[in-house]
Amino acid sequence: MTYGMIATWRMAYEGVLHQSEKLADGSSAGDVLEGVIKEVEEFANFISVGYGGLPNEEGIVQLDAAYMDGTTLEIGAVAGLENIKNPISVARKLSKERFNSFRIAEGAKKCAVKMGFEQEDLLTEKSKEKWEEKKKEIEAKEISPYDGHDTIGTVVLDKAHHMAAGTSSSGLFMKKEGRVGDSPLPGSGFYVDSDIGGATATGLGEDLMKGILSYEVVRKMEEGLPPKDAAQRTLEEFEKKLKRKYGKVGAMSLICMDNKGEWGIATNVEFTFVVATESQKPTIYISHRTEDGQVIIEKTTEEWLKDYLGNVNNRTE
Ligand code: GLY
Repeated sequence: MTYGMIATWRMAYEGVLHQSEKLADGSSAGDVLEGVIKEVEEFANFISVGYGGLPNEEGIVQLDAAYMDGTTLEIGAVAGLENIKNPISVARKLSKERFNSFRIAEGAKKCAVKMGFEQEDLLTEKSKEKWEEKKKEIEAKEISPYDGHDTIGTVVLDKAHHMAAGTSSSGLFMKKEGRVGDSPLPGSGFYVDSDIGGATATGLGEDLMKGILSYEVVRKMEEGLPPKDAAQRTLEEFEKKLKRKYGKVGAMSLICMDNKGEWGIATNVEFTFVVATESQKPTIYISHRTEDGQVIIEKTTEEWLKDYLGNVNNRTE
């Protein structure tokens, strides 16, 4: 009776920590997944997801999220959702709908309100300040406007062998109004099949969606590749193709877990992620790829953690 979960970025740690006990007690993959992502969405200092998420060019927080049930293949998703703190919960509810299960913008908001979700202002003082600073920098042409796209993505395997995958993101900082990234797109931002495993992606949505990478990782696991190789081969092959055909490759990271609780990742940047399984307490890893293509994965050090927490906590000052 194995179980486990993997989630993108250090910001997932507290959610994984709290939910891993529930997973061990027999909670469903769907409940655990929603719990992990909600915790990230609700913490204002995580500025790329949910409440306090970084806004678009107009200063408006527009959120993308998706939920997939690996046993039924049900999918629910929202894109460009405004004023709703927990898009993952809206997406999960939508996954139960036979029709109209992927909703965008005003339609998504109306639907969330109908479902009983409260409307609130998601732009915190801190995010607004960052937006104002960025506007000035862009005007001075000092930097590219488009950075900051850390999506929370999670794959969960529960004791009953059910799997779920989900994502939530405020997308690219300073995106144009109505821009949608890979996170709510099935196959691209996420995919899961309880008979095989699941995967999610984080990075530059415009490039990730060119490769439908999450589905490709699951497909490779179905062909028999171990999760580690499925993720790494998917990224390597796609990067080569994208470089050849498009000439540029943005930041990309993938996580995956199979239905036995084995996991893998791939990345072309410095990437943190969190894993908890039956045999492993919640652990934060940091990974990067060397120039000769080797993927290095290490547990984070106390020093790294202190720096990270200092940065995150400073956001309230
Ligand atoms: N990967 C998140 C985004 O590009 O919106």
